[in-house]
Amino acid sequence: MASPIYTATVTAPTNIAVIKYWGKADAKANTPINDSLSVTLDQADLRAVTTAAASTSFTEDRLWLNGEEEVGASENKRFRACVDGVRRLATDCRGVTKADWQTMKVHISSYNTFPTAAGLASSAAGYAALVAALAELMQAKEEFPGQLTTLARQGSGSASRSLYGGFVAWRKGSPPEWLDSKADQVAHEGHWPELRAIIAVVSDKQKDTSSTSGMSTSVATSTLLKHRAEVVVPERMKAMEAAIKAQDFVAFGRITMMDSNQFHATCLDTYPPIFYMNDVSRSIIRLVTAYNDCKGKIEVAYTFDAGPNAVLYLLEPNMVEVGALLLHYYGDKDHVQKWVNKTEFASAIASHKLDGSLLAAVDKTGLTPSTGNVKCLYATKAGPGPQVLEGECLIDPKTGLNTYIKK
Ligand code: DP6
Repeated sequence: MASPIYTATVTAPTNIAVIKYWGKADAKANTPINDSLSVTLDQADLRAVTTAAASTSFTEDRLWLNGEEEVGASENKRFRACVDGVRRLATDCRGVTKADWQTMKVHISSYNTFPTAAGLASSAAGYAALVAALAELMQAKEEFPGQLTTLARQGSGSASRSLYGGFVAWRKGSPPEWLDSKADQVAHEGHWPELRAIIAVVSDKQKDTSSTSGMSTSVATSTLLKHRAEVVVPERMKAMEAAIKAQDFVAFGRITMMDSNQFHATCLDTYPPIFYMNDVSRSIIRLVTAYNDCKGKIEVAYTFDAGPNAVLYLLEPNMVEVGALLLHYYGDKDHVQKWVNKTEFASAIASHKLDGSLLAAVDKTGLTPSTGNVKCLYATKAGPGPQVLEGECLIDPKTGLNTYIKK
C-alpha cells in the first residue's frame, strides 16, 4: 500500500509596524536591536495561503511559491529553521508518532492574495503561514508561550508578529539563546473596532534594497540607528502600548508617524544612504499633514516600510473622506471599482463631495491631481492570526505535488 500523505492548510495575515524593526542584533538568530509593534491586518483583504504536506514517500523537502517550484529551497537556512524547528515540537497525532514526523520530508505550497512585487510585507505573511501550516500538520506543542513566533522570526523577523491577531509586540530578547526574542499580543483584533488602514500602492520602478542587506549597512554605519534602538524605541514602546490600550488615536497616530520618519531618517543616515520613499510617498506625507492641520488634530497617520507604499491608519468615520481625497489626487476616476479593493467603499469615495477648504489646503502643498501615481488602494482593518482552512489544499493528497496555478 502507498504511504499516506498528510496535509494541513492555513491562511496567515500580513502586519504593518507602527514601531519599526530595523537592525539585527544577531544575524544567525535573526534577532533585532529593538522591540517593535505592529497591527495584524485582516486576511479577508491580504493573506498568504499555505499547505504543508508530509509523507514517508517524499524523498526531499520541496517548496512551491505562487505555483512555481523554488529549486534548492530545502537548503535555504530560513526555510530550514522553520521546518526543523516546528518538527522538534511535533506530537503524536494523525496516527503518526513524534519520532516518525522527524524522518518525514515535507512538501510546501504557498501563495499570496496580493502582489509580491507590491512590497506589501509578503515575507511576514509567508513565513507565518509556513510555521502555522507545519504546526497544524504535526500538532506542534509549544514548550513556552510564543515559541512558534521564535521560529517564524528565523524565517523573517516581521513574521514573528503575524502569528497573532490585533496589536502585536516583538520583544528584542537577550543573548545567547534569544528564546525571549518573541512576539506577544498587546491587544486582540476586536479591541479597537473603529481602527482602519488604507494601503496606497505607489508605483515603483526601481528595485528596493532588501531589508536584510539594508539593515546590515545601517547597523554598521548609522549612529542615529544606535541612538534610536537604545534611547528612543524603549520610551516609544511604552507610549504606544498605552495609546493602544486607551484607544487614543492622537497619540497612536503621532508616534506612528514619528517612528516611520525616524526609520527613514536612519536609512538616510546609513552610508551609502538608502532611499525607500519616493516623490509620491513624500506627497502623501504632505497630504496627511495638511489633512490633520485642517482638522486641528491628528486624524490620519502615515507609515512607510522598506518601499514607497503608504499605509494610512485612521478611524472609520474618516474613511470615506480620506479615500475620496486619495482618489482626487492620485486615483483612476474612470475605473474606481478596479482601483479600490471593496465595491461599497469605491462607490462611497466616488460620490463623496470634498470640502473646498480641505482641497485648498492640500493644493497649497503643491500637489496636483495626477492619475496613476497610486496604482490601487486596499481598505482594511485589524484582523486575527493564522486560521486553519478546511476545504482548500494546494498539494495533491495522492501525488504530493503542487496543485496551485497562478491566476
Ligand atoms: C521596515 O522582517 O522583512 O518592514 O528579518 O531580514 O526578513 P528580515 O526583515 P523583515 O524586515 C521588516 C522591516 C520593516 C519594519 C517592520 O516590519 O518592523
